[in-house]
Amino acid sequence: MTDARFTTNNVGIPVASDDHSLTAGPNGPILLQDHYLIEKNAQFNRERVPERVVHAKGGGAFGFLEITEDVSQYTKAALFQPGVKTEALTRFSTVAGELGSPDTWRDPRGFAIKFYTTEGNYDLVGNNTPVFFIRDPIKFPDFIRSQKRRADNGRRDHDQQWDFWTLQPESAHQVTWLMGDRGIPKTWRHQNGYGSHTYLWENAGGEKFWVKYHFKTDQGIDFLTSSEAATLAGENADHHIADLWDAIVAGDHPSWTLHVQVMPYEDAADYRFNPFDLTKVWPHGDYPLIKVGRLVLDRNPENYFAQIEQGAFEPTNLVPGIGPSPDKMLLGRMFSYPDAHRYRIGPNYAQLPVNQPKSPVNSYAKDGAMRYSNPSDPVYAPNSYGGPHADAAKAGEAAASFGVTDEIVRSAYRLHAEDDDFGQAGTMVRSVLNDDQRARLVANVQGHLSNGVSKPILARALQYWRNVDKELGDKIAAAFDAS
Ligand code: NDP
Ligand code: HEM
Repeated sequence: MTDARFTTNNVGIPVASDDHSLTAGPNGPILLQDHYLIEKNAQFNRERVPERVVHAKGGGAFGFLEITEDVSQYTKAALFQPGVKTEALTRFSTVAGELGSPDTWRDPRGFAIKFYTTEGNYDLVGNNTPVFFIRDPIKFPDFIRSQKRRADNGRRDHDQQWDFWTLQPESAHQVTWLMGDRGIPKTWRHQNGYGSHTYLWENAGGEKFWVKYHFKTDQGIDFLTSSEAATLAGENADHHIADLWDAIVAGDHPSWTLHVQVMPYEDAADYRFNPFDLTKVWPHGDYPLIKVGRLVLDRNPENYFAQIEQGAFEPTNLVPGIGPSPDKMLLGRMFSYPDAHRYRIGPNYAQLPVNQPKSPVNSYAKDGAMRYSNPSDPVYAPNSYGGPHADAAKAGEAAASFGVTDEIVRSAYRLHAEDDDFGQAGTMVRSVLNDDQRARLVANVQGHLSNGVSKPILARALQYWRNVDKELGDKIAAAFDAS
């Protein structure tokens, strides 16, 4: 047996040196037969997988979700039954920055949770904001390209960001949120998480409900000012990763209280806002928060690459009792994530330890690159040899059914009574923010718009802000006049 103190190559053969390549004489040329030299360098050349096309920079930790209340009247999902404790992995991230980019750039933060439930993995791939910039997935690549680096000089460009936002005014609610205090959280521990989309819940009796998830931080909301964030971006690009890691090492385990808003299935048709439009919230006064349990993070990863970089979250992972809603963005995302994982990690990404469920997998999927374990015969269904068969009564898709009767069209959502692009953003500015928060919002917007935005787009941006709130827009314009 090889002694663990000594190096081997990748198949366990002891090697002679980690310092010297095999050469013809001390000064001589290197020999092709030095397979260890070749293995080391070839392996090194292949260390990177592509970074995530969005949400590349992040970190995370393991923990659990514990259900402290009884919401069984709304869902039969095993993980949400009273007293159930489910192991979970949470990954936080920025959206537009690359793998090495600073944690403190102004951006929404990803708040992705993988629950290892007894009925398979349930992934809730949310953000720290309850809304999003667009409401149709066909716009997503354009939106992201406008926020990322230019084609010519490789630089990020505020002109392109504001060009897109002002041409797509449905962005106004999310942009207002982004330019406010919550656009740069103090740490990942000091932010909320939202499922953002509307989902479908189904109870044991087959009754259906629309639901929105809110993970409220127990550490309290806190933020960084633009200048604090800029300093930190230079001093420690990994500020948020370090904070979470250090808090867990110190035994200061962050937690979030999970609440849901529940809408009776029938309410959706004539609710005053389209309840499936991702640019809108459901005001708390209409659908109050119902407490469910708490999410705790108490264990750092042992290996960042294996458990965080190769972590594969996907809104497609919905367990029995939970289904998607007709939110077009959510339905679009259900294609994108597994597709991204097949490209980024490989077709058998679900077999990696971090992505494996803790419940049995009885799938007929087989073979492909880097397959670790395979089903044995019979490898087809149906079969006469006792292989697993589908059980519609227990199926995850059971909750996926909502009624659809319309013609096939390419169209915007049908408008509900109070639907528009600016209303809820204006409510936030006027009714939620205090004077200090409004003043910082003005300064943040003016600062952002002062950085390389061309005159025509600046004019459009000022009008955009006047549409959110006339007084706010006037103040931003005045801030330019004063500068
Ligand atoms: P409420 O007064 O009940 O809720 C306002 C919510 O705004 C708060 O509960 C808080 O969300 C959030 N909030 C507080 N300060 C800030 C801030 N500086 N930046 C961003 N969000 C903040 O009113 P409504 O539910 O009627 O909503 C009014 C407006 O509040 C909405 O138009 C929307 O813009 C915003 N909002 C609403 C949320 C919702 O789900 N109803 C969630 C977040 C924002 P939280 O409790 O989640 O921390
Ligand atoms: C990551 C697509 C909207 C949250 C990703 C990835 C893709 C993607 C391709 C990279 C996946 C990977 O390589 O692992 C899309 C599309 C969207 C959309 C097409 C709209 C149509 C959203 C929304 C949210 C969100 C609305 C939140 C509510 C996230 C998070 C991650 C992510 C948190 C990182 C997950 C992780 O930590 O690995 N998205 N996205 N995305 N997205 Fe989206």
